[in-house]
Amino acid sequence: MGKLDGKVAFITGAARGQGRSHAITLAREGADIIAVDICEQIDSVPYPLATPEDLAATVKEVEALGRSIVAVKADVRERAGLRAALDEGLARFGRLDIVCANAGICPAIDATLAAGFVDGIDVDLVGVHNTLAVSLPHLKAGASVIITGSTAGMMKGTTEMMGNTGGVAYSLAKQIIATYTEKLALQLAPHSVRLNAIHPTNVDTLLLHNEVVYKAFRPDIAQTGRTPTREEAEQAFPVMQAMPIPYIQPKDVSELVLFLASDDSRYITGLNIRIDAGAMLKPPMF
Ligand SMILES: NC(=O)c1ccc[n+]([C@@H]2O[C@H](COP(=O)([O-])OP(=O)(O)OC[C@H]3O[C@@H](n4cnc5c(N)ncnc54)[C@H](O)[C@@H]3O)[C@@H](O)[C@H]2O)c1
Repeated sequence: MGKLDGKVAFITGAARGQGRSHAITLAREGADIIAVDICEQIDSVPYPLATPEDLAATVKEVEALGRSIVAVKADVRERAGLRAALDEGLARFGRLDIVCANAGICPAIDATLAAGFVDGIDVDLVGVHNTLAVSLPHLKAGASVIITGSTAGMMKGTTEMMGNTGGVAYSLAKQIIATYTEKLALQLAPHSVRLNAIHPTNVDTLLLHNEVVYKAFRPDIAQTGRTPTREEAEQAFPVMQAMPIPYIQPKDVSELVLFLASDDSRYITGLNIRIDAGAMLKPPMF
């Protein structure tokens, strides 16, 4: 018996990183999965986004657990395409119980204002709203929605340091998500549908492991014109958290996603929960 037997989960950004980890974790507990990912590049993002091969790997891992998965290439910025992807999953599974609005980008290069700010808000805020917009008509009593925010986005100065356009958009989107969660959860509560947001600190994924973030954490090395190595960046990453770690793992987030998705948390709604190893308890760093 799994905690999610007979349930269906819709997960955005499911090709890799936290999204793939959520898909595997929920499937392990019996859920079938509707997975979407953009699987192509957004120009203002300074690190590679997922590929079709990544999404295929998620499919393989879920199927290896004996669960079914419908995986569709879709962009959370495009509501019609996202709705079509969800409809494909609904046609196969006939129900929707869990939504993970997880897809996100950190467009943090010296992007133009138009590219960095617009793309950041479009994916990290509008993309979340689009995910909710297409899902809400299908959610019945007992359903659970989980949005991925960010502690880094909420910490003063943390994302601004990575670039004035994309960083600001990332930060703003994640801050708005906290209020969005509280307001919408109150609307959903009379329908016995729950909504919570998880705000992780640094997570060991490609959104963190890229040159731009490495340079932001090691300005001393970046100033010399050299790109810091992963090892050099990892020496600085613990400055984020109160606990002595560089980052958490996708699995750490997935275990909370599982709890919030399952009936174990049946009366928990409207919460913004940090998984940040004490990051937000510290005074501002920058
Ligand atoms: N990695 C971190 O340090 C960190 C910290 C806090 C919060 N987050 C948040 O966690 C979430 C997951 O990120 P991750 O760490 O797994 O990084 P990731 O880059 O590995 O995964 C993000 C996934 O979203 C997909 N995606 C991006 N734009 C999309 C779009 N427009 N439509 C559909 N899919 C799209 C990407 O292709 C990728 O597969 C994001 O919302 C991110 O902001 C990450």
